[in-house]
Amino acid sequence: MKVDTLLGLQWGDEGKGKVVDVLTPSYDIVARFQGGPNAGHTLEFGGQKYVLRSIPSGIFQGGKINIIGNGVVLDPALFKEEVEALEASGHPLTDRLYLSRKAHLILPTHRLLDQAYEGKKGDGKIGTTGKGIGPAYTDKISRNGLRIGDLEHNFEVKYKKAIANHEELLQQMNFKYDLAPLEKAWWDGIAKIKQFKRIDSEHFINKSLKDGKNILAEGAQGTMLDIDFGSYPFVTSSNTVCAGACTGLGVAPSAIGEAYGIFKAYCTRVGSGPFPTELADEIGQEMRDRGSEYGSVTGRPRRCGWIDLVALRYAIMLDGVTQLIMMKSDVLDTFDTIRAAVAYEIDGQETADFPFEIGDTVRPVYVELPGWKTDMTKMQSEDEFPEEFNAYLSFLEENLGVNIKIVSVGPDREQTIVRYTE
Ligand code: GDP
Ligand code: IMO
Ligand code: MG
Repeated sequence: MKVDTLLGLQWGDEGKGKVVDVLTPSYDIVARFQGGPNAGHTLEFGGQKYVLRSIPSGIFQGGKINIIGNGVVLDPALFKEEVEALEASGHPLTDRLYLSRKAHLILPTHRLLDQAYEGKKGDGKIGTTGKGIGPAYTDKISRNGLRIGDLEHNFEVKYKKAIANHEELLQQMNFKYDLAPLEKAWWDGIAKIKQFKRIDSEHFINKSLKDGKNILAEGAQGTMLDIDFGSYPFVTSSNTVCAGACTGLGVAPSAIGEAYGIFKAYCTRVGSGPFPTELADEIGQEMRDRGSEYGSVTGRPRRCGWIDLVALRYAIMLDGVTQLIMMKSDVLDTFDTIRAAVAYEIDGQETADFPFEIGDTVRPVYVELPGWKTDMTKMQSEDEFPEEFNAYLSFLEENLGVNIKIVSVGPDREQTIVRYTE
């Protein structure tokens, strides 16, 4: 068997949580492989809305194993909050969620360091989610990190050493903080983690594959936020691309099956950094209002703009996308015309390839298509799609070179249409 991957192709918030939940019935195991509580994956069904940060979005479909893989950074305090909120809503998960012993822990001081570094950057700040992601991955790479498996041996000594190092850095930056309440919540979180099965997930996953189990790897963030290929330095600190599923779960490249690439019918970004197709006008505001484009973790308004096919083709190339999933089609229902950037003009030169950097001199070259002016939210099958909507799908498929297999027409689990096209 293979590990299928579901990857955000834009700057995050494409709707990964919703689609993982929809696809989960076809899988035995759902695993997160990178990122941490910077993610906010929203699911809606039965009139209820749920936001997941570190816990995989397969948790709501009964009888499935969910795994937090080695590539994830886990904040015990936020993990405890998330588990308790799920329990309170009638979704106990202690026996269905396994944690990799090799996953790194976000310490309370990582969150403080995140804030301190952002403060130092001033106008050049990244606009992080403030969850300590960068500092936790920095410690992992510089070989100073603490892992879930470390809980089993001499943990307090290792913890104190790490905290002392961080406090030295915070003091050098003259950053004022109160660690005590953060530490209390963090240790309560550690007690919660100890109630879960902590496994060598690379062994578990590879054995499950041998035993014929289907596995879905759930990406967080999006390809344009990848540490290597995103709009550096305005990126997150992990590999969000398909290859990240190999290192973040311990599976060989040959074990990867489908790469589902998910994108919105338009584009959003939250935080700082370049965004060539951004609309700082009433059209962008209409997208924000109609799409409820406000961060599910931070509540920040998301920047909105037209779909960027230059960036999408780049993401599809990097991820080896085999099937596309288009989200939030209904958000464009009211527009007379819809634009799509097919190339960039940089210093008078047109390019269809994603450049080294997308600076201020990048101008999108647009193609304009007629809007469908139809309420898509009630659609049940592709037979009901208006002609202009089908034309938009065909245009995208031709430009991107991959079939759009699933179309989402609303936030609810039920508002999802699987197309017949092969
Ligand atoms: P993720 O981080 O990729 O899981 O995406 P988020 O959950 O942060 O953001 C996607 C938002 O769009 C959520 O609030 C979803 O409930 C919502 N959503 C998902 N699909 C659709 C859709 O097809 N139409 C509309 N209107 N909303 C959607
Ligand atoms: P999901 O999984 C959208 C952005 C932040 C910031 C940059 C770095 O819900 O799609 P970080 O806290 O990771 O150091 O912030 O990355 N970012 C996201 N944007 N969706 C996300 O996750 C994001 N996770 C991080 O806004 O620009
Ligand atoms: Mg999100």
